[in-house]
Amino acid sequence: MTRRAFLALTMLAVSACGGSSDGGTAPVTPITPNPTTPAVDTTPLRTYASRRNFYIGAAIDRGFRFTGTEGTTFTNTFTRQFNMLVAENDMKHASLHPAQNTYRFTSADSLVAFADANNMKVRGHVLVFHNQNASWLTSGTWTPAQAKQLMIDHITQVVTHFRGKVMEWDVVNEILADNGTLRAGWYLNNIGADYIADAFRAARAADPTVGLFYNDYNVEGISPKSDSAYKLVADLVAKGVPITGVGFESHFIAGQMPQNVDANMQRFAALGLKVHITELDIRVPTPSTSASLTTQAQNYRDYLAACMRFPACDVAVLWGFTDKESWIPSTFPGFGDALIFDAAYQPKASFFSLQAQLK
Ligand code: G3I
Repeated sequence: MTRRAFLALTMLAVSACGGSSDGGTAPVTPITPNPTTPAVDTTPLRTYASRRNFYIGAAIDRGFRFTGTEGTTFTNTFTRQFNMLVAENDMKHASLHPAQNTYRFTSADSLVAFADANNMKVRGHVLVFHNQNASWLTSGTWTPAQAKQLMIDHITQVVTHFRGKVMEWDVVNEILADNGTLRAGWYLNNIGADYIADAFRAARAADPTVGLFYNDYNVEGISPKSDSAYKLVADLVAKGVPITGVGFESHFIAGQMPQNVDANMQRFAALGLKVHITELDIRVPTPSTSASLTTQAQNYRDYLAACMRFPACDVAVLWGFTDKESWIPSTFPGFGDALIFDAAYQPKASFFSLQAQLK
């Protein structure tokens, strides 16, 4: 459904409830519904998701701090629609661990409390990542043994702090370069390739039941990079490393979706792993058009449908939910409108396509 059609139906629904443009004093003429006009489904995404034991989530960050009417609209829309929360930045190393002996949990704790108060699960993002590490870590000089201990200490402190409050962690994030080799970064450079298995073991030691994920992008379809990811993960499983699943970030461009998503999900699931969609957004060239938003909506639906064909895929998180707040426009100039609510918090065609798929 186009936004215009949705707004027309909303106005119809309002007037059918007795609303009028002159302050409610005019006599109300009952409206006979046109039997060919489908009613707008106002059921929240999370209601349909819960019925399927599915988690539909969104990452939130700066928008969470909006004040006044916009803050209320932001949080109300978020809590009404989603049953899972991810901190877009507040659980990263630089946020939680500003000095070697200092942890700062205030912002992340407030998000976790907010999720709890609204009956939402939390995905933890992220323990080990080549980006957004505190400068005391990356600018220091360490022996390999010291570097490994610093990583293990961070994981231990953070996972212990959130034990029982976080459903699953992205333990290692974006560890492969686009050519499928291990990505260079502080952890690989200072510890060596074993940092990956060591990170999972440290997280498991700190929490015996939390889900432990390897999260990456451009691994969603069959490709040389996802072949490398598959080999890496199969090797971890064969060695008994405590990995629960793989996160497919899923940052896409409308009309350019990855190929063979089913076959790819199938092979990871066949390892006995969960496959979760962790950062979904589908950007379009801006200004967007009715045609590009229709393609986007179809892409959202088809992709969620692929996930839902696998019991292993019972989580889908969007990287934001309103086009008002998204990392896309600043990172990919000329692109935007990647999410399911527009910048005025109105549901887009992509919202209704996800809703129809979850129903
Ligand atoms: O907090 C500072 C603020 O104090 C400062 O005034 C402002 C000026 O630029 O920057 C703010 O920090 C920004 C931060 O987001 C919080 O808004 C950083 O510059 C900015 O680089 C950072 O970007 C984040 C990015 O990760 C960094 O790696 C995005 O919000 C976040 O969406 C993005 O998320 C990543 C996932 O973690 C991993 N997968 C890809 C995904 C998208 O890049």
